[in-house]
Amino acid sequence: MAQVADGDVRRPRRRGSPRRPGAQRPALPPPTRPRRPRRHAEVRIRRRPAGAGAGQRPRDRRPRRPRRGRPRPPVAGVRDHRRQPRRLPRRGRRPRGRGARPRRHRTRRLRPGALPRPRGLRRHGRRGRPGPPGRGHPRRSRRGPRLRAAAGPGQPRPRRPAHRLPAGRRPHGHPGHQGRRVRRRLRPRPGPRLPGARRDRAGRGRHPPPHRPLRRRRRRHDHRRTAARARRDEAHRHRAARPGHDRRRHRRASRRPPPALRRLRGARRGRRRRGHDRAGPRPRRAGEVRRRLPRRDLPQPPGLPREPGRPVSAPTLAGSPTGSTTGRTRIPIGGERPYEAVVGRGLTGETGRVLGAGPLRVAVVHSRTLLTTARAIARELTDEGRIVVSLEVPEGEAAKDMTVVVGLWRALADAGFTRSDAVVAVGGGATTDLAGFAAAGWLRGVRLVLVPTTLLGMVDAAIGGKTAVNLPQGKNLVGAFHPPAGVLCDLDLLDTLPPADYASGLAEVIKAGFIADPEILRLVEEDPAGAFHTRELVERAIRVKAEVVTEDFREDGRREHLNYGHTLGHAIERVAGYRVRHGHAVAAGMVFAAELARLDGRLSAAEAQRHRTLLAAAGLPTGHTGAWAPLRDAMSIDKKTRGNRLRLVVLDAIGRPALLTAPDEALLAAAYERLSR
Ligand SMILES: NC(=O)c1ccc[n+]([C@@H]2O[C@H](COP(=O)([O-])OP(=O)(O)OC[C@H]3O[C@@H](n4cnc5c(N)ncnc54)[C@H](O)[C@@H]3O)[C@@H](O)[C@H]2O)c1
Repeated sequence: MAQVADGDVRRPRRRGSPRRPGAQRPALPPPTRPRRPRRHAEVRIRRRPAGAGAGQRPRDRRPRRPRRGRPRPPVAGVRDHRRQPRRLPRRGRRPRGRGARPRRHRTRRLRPGALPRPRGLRRHGRRGRPGPPGRGHPRRSRRGPRLRAAAGPGQPRPRRPAHRLPAGRRPHGHPGHQGRRVRRRLRPRPGPRLPGARRDRAGRGRHPPPHRPLRRRRRRHDHRRTAARARRDEAHRHRAARPGHDRRRHRRASRRPPPALRRLRGARRGRRRRGHDRAGPRPRRAGEVRRRLPRRDLPQPPGLPREPGRPVSAPTLAGSPTGSTTGRTRIPIGGERPYEAVVGRGLTGETGRVLGAGPLRVAVVHSRTLLTTARAIARELTDEGRIVVSLEVPEGEAAKDMTVVVGLWRALADAGFTRSDAVVAVGGGATTDLAGFAAAGWLRGVRLVLVPTTLLGMVDAAIGGKTAVNLPQGKNLVGAFHPPAGVLCDLDLLDTLPPADYASGLAEVIKAGFIADPEILRLVEEDPAGAFHTRELVERAIRVKAEVVTEDFREDGRREHLNYGHTLGHAIERVAGYRVRHGHAVAAGMVFAAELARLDGRLSAAEAQRHRTLLAAAGLPTGHTGAWAPLRDAMSIDKKTRGNRLRLVVLDAIGRPALLTAPDEALLAAAYERLSR
């Protein structure tokens, strides 16, 4: 910008606009104060041009002259603040001529005085979405710029659509449908909304599509329902509620229980099911509780007494009272803190008595399979005025994990468990081991009551006060001695136990027979399925363990005998990733120990063979295939190992266990070779 004398400001000539020779200089606007130079990083605000027409771009730099003649139409996109005529231009056919375009190519112009629509809104006012198909509404075509025009006299207003023919007699005599469903369209409805801000309806998350009625579509109520759930007092019997602990048929097969059975439809639905008119129990009154029929209703083998309540055989374990099929049998267990194991039926109701008056808060630890039992126990404890926290843990061996233990401790902390509160474990050996360890660790030990629900849990895991969890490096490597306040062995709970788990428990019962009570072996040989001697077998096996742990609570000597078959058993479990049942692995381990004892000259071939016969009759494995080396490595970290010296429990005779220390490696390999034949 060049400065001229007397403060005159010269503007540079625009490029491409040569001045005509002799042309007068255009009159320049009055001089303005020159702008000061911008400071560093200063941002200037653009001033809005003031005054009417200020927003218009001047066609040239000359000052405006007042315009003569008709006012020109405003330039599209620029605001025009001048007065506009009120009369709207006539719609309809236009004379075709110069400059006239076919109608569909014509661009829509805003009417003077109309507010421009926000960008992105289409004719029907829904941003970015296409309009409903077809015309949709008689006045739809009127919407758009016309309805967005500022309301004023002469502006069109939408009218209500014409009502349909009202219900009643039709001209041709038919009365027409009179029902509400049909007539709902005939009810007076408001006209189409004037455009404006859309607001959400109160209580609704979203708008229904405008062309759909607000009612739900009607459906036939013929959907398949899930199976009936177990009643309050029943364990799950229905197939739909079957626990998912069965072996999967395929590694990718579903872990879930089989689907719900289809309910009867039609004629036999509800109370008219098959056999409903036959003699049967009367309908239950409200709130009445019924017990399920116990196992003794199973057919009895010939030669055994039929009357319930009579002992099925005379137990002969020295120094212990006879078992009973009625009432409760209390078996004392000594050690650092003596307690009782109670065997009988319908015992879960005694949990509160065993807990004592002290605990106010009780955590009931259970897996999903035992939910019904755990709930029943929780209900009784709540009725006693205690605060019950129900804690569900994974099924089986998956529960014996440090992360699960920490989860339990956090839950106890959240529930404000104090030292006088208690833990109740409801489940198999895995659950009682886990809950016992959690109870042992919480505030250095809180009261614990065990309600074992598997045969193995009753005869072994819940007895003796040992608790433990697994590590990837080995089974039961982290644990504590924490005797419970009591153990409730409710035989009713075994009714739902799958046969494979029952057999797994039978392995520990048979082990007790081999190391201390040969009568157990005779009972199992007589009834390998254990259907008739269950109670006696449970009591005998508990007594064997009680006697041993009373004498050697800390496992410094005699208690090691209880690990008969466990050294190889634990190794098999570990190498198989704990996918083998504990009792099944122990059964193979007992056959291995018997072969070892036979090769070592301790057992006769007949006694070793008796192992195989008995275990096979009980449905347990008597062999194991697989490489020896990984099993041998896994045996090295067995808890009986001292230094590098492996120690195994073997039998000098049936009922006479002994320790075999640092056996010859060739002997071990030979015994395994016989097992894997
Ligand atoms: N602490 C000890 O002294 C000791 C002794 C022996 C074994 N154990 C441990 O016990 C564990 C094995 O116990 P387990 O054989 O009871 O197996 P488990 O606890 O793994 O239970 C087996 C399955 O049976 C289900 N189940 C339990 N009760 C049921 C019932 N009444 N009806 C239907 N299903 C039921 C469970 O949900 C689970 O899926 C092992 O971890 C083992 O180390 C501990």
